[in-house]
Amino acid sequence: MEVQVLGVSGSPVPDSNTDRAVKLVLNHTGLRTRFVKLSELRLEPCRGCLGCVENNQCTVDDDGRSLAEAFRTASAFVLGAFTPYNSLDARSKMFMERMYCLRHQTGRNSGKFGAYVITTACPPYGSNVPPAFETATSQIRSWMAEEGILEIGGMLVVGNVPCIRCGHGDACMVSGIKLIHGSEATIASVGIQRFEDDPLAEDNAKQLALQVRRAVLGNLDAPAG
Ligand SMILES: Cc1cc2nc3c(=O)[nH]c(=O)nc-3n(C[C@H](O)[C@H](O)[C@H](O)COP(=O)(O)O)c2cc1C
Repeated sequence: MEVQVLGVSGSPVPDSNTDRAVKLVLNHTGLRTRFVKLSELRLEPCRGCLGCVENNQCTVDDDGRSLAEAFRTASAFVLGAFTPYNSLDARSKMFMERMYCLRHQTGRNSGKFGAYVITTACPPYGSNVPPAFETATSQIRSWMAEEGILEIGGMLVVGNVPCIRCGHGDACMVSGIKLIHGSEATIASVGIQRFEDDPLAEDNAKQLALQVRRAVLGNLDAPAG
């Protein structure tokens, strides 16, 4: 039986916050789901060659072809991304661009339901940090709008700046810890974020999953699975 919801993670970190958040949303949908980690695939960016125009098949012979097929046949997706340099990570962007092959002539992406999970090391809505969550969200939303994908909604996950685990965090002259959290911040004061430790994480994931479920089943009263 076909997968109803495709979960995609752009995070290359093994078992990352992004991965676990996407999986939690998938699990709470109670639907048939599949999780794909983009860094485990052979995936090149779109070449813009337009070789896909006639048959909606990408000319690049890599895992993007089977990924596009999985995307095409799923009713909904949950895209998990993170925010290096305060914008969408490269793999998530590549994923979006590779789905371009499905677009031509009949708009095969149109009518699909899309949800997103954005993991950012910058605490959201802070005044002295760049708006990473908002930037990545707007990138995904504008892709969805262009493709006719119906937006379900999204979820924010607060993750870790890599400097937390590089081994030089407190001594490093260019540490992202101080950049994001202020000159007095240390690894110990910031701590390692596990998204499950956020008291709202489970509820947020459930809420998003329920929206996905309702969208896929076409029934606003569909009970949680
Ligand atoms: C090269 C690089 C640059 C990053 N720059 C930022 C940044 O500018 N802003 C930010 O919020 N997070 C930044 N991050 C942190 C990621 O958003 C963070 O690793 C994210 O929480 C991923 O979490 P996860 O791997 O646990 O899913 C950066 C990460 C990398 C690898």
